[in-house]
Amino acid sequence: MPVVISLFNAFTGLAVGFEGYVLGNPALIIAGIVVGAAGTLLTQLMAKAMNRPISNILFTPMTGGGGAGEAIEGTMKELSAIDAAAMMRYASKVIIVPGYGMAVAHAQHKVWEMTSILEEAGVEVKFAIHPVAGRMPGHMNVLLAEAGVPYDKIFDLEEINGEFGQADVALIIGANDVVNPSARTDKSSPIYGMPILNADMAQNVIVIKRGKGTGYSGVENALFYTDNCRMLYGDAQPMAGHIIQHLKAMG
Ligand code: TAP
Repeated sequence: MPVVISLFNAFTGLAVGFEGYVLGNPALIIAGIVVGAAGTLLTQLMAKAMNRPISNILFTPMTGGGGAGEAIEGTMKELSAIDAAAMMRYASKVIIVPGYGMAVAHAQHKVWEMTSILEEAGVEVKFAIHPVAGRMPGHMNVLLAEAGVPYDKIFDLEEINGEFGQADVALIIGANDVVNPSARTDKSSPIYGMPILNADMAQNVIVIKRGKGTGYSGVENALFYTDNCRMLYGDAQPMAGHIIQHLKAMG
């Protein structure tokens, strides 16, 4: 839907530009071209991030989510906030993957506070941003910038994906579809082919989410059932607060 809206936005700009041409008004032509070009570029970027051609997005019927995808075996394994804090406190490298859940929980300030404590303890912390994490382009970048996270700690998918293998912990905060490994392997999945963040390749994965809810696509996430993944159930903001308390107690 956001891709379609963005395309309509581009058409609006082109229509304004055409109107300017008919009326002989250069201001309308320039404004129309700027809006049309920006909308077209944004549409292309979003389609690329989903690894789908625009025609496929426009003309493939919506599944409504949830129906497709291979069955997943195994169980989700829980851990406590104190265990999560200890794993990260004694790690060398932690990569944080924020998603839509961090945005709705307004947890970005707590997440940055937690990051600062970890860095003071000598842990290298980086943020991995998927191009369609959240619900609008640049959603996570805006939130992290608002919380004061320096730009040099924030990395795009292509920049950071090779580093997950060296990370002791991948901390996923309210993200789901953007770390779903089914996108690589399960041809029946609605998100098959979408590039994902390789969080599953970290030594340990911790996932903060409230329960067993699926993401925007409605697809179950195979990552949550893997042996190296532990679930930290709760709203992202208070949970980040609990981790901070435990980190402070550990000194
Ligand atoms: P999602 O896949 O939507 O997953 C978000 C997860 O956050 C859910 O599984 C939910 O699980 C959890 N959550 C919700 N509220 C929470 C809270 N208060 N605290 C902790 N966790 C919470 O998010 P994503 O990984 O960021 O992926 C984005 C999705 O949106 C993609 O499928 C993308 O295609 C789509 N999309 C993106 C855009 C753009 S341009 N960014 C636009 C439209 C759609 P629980 O319910 O169990 O907590």
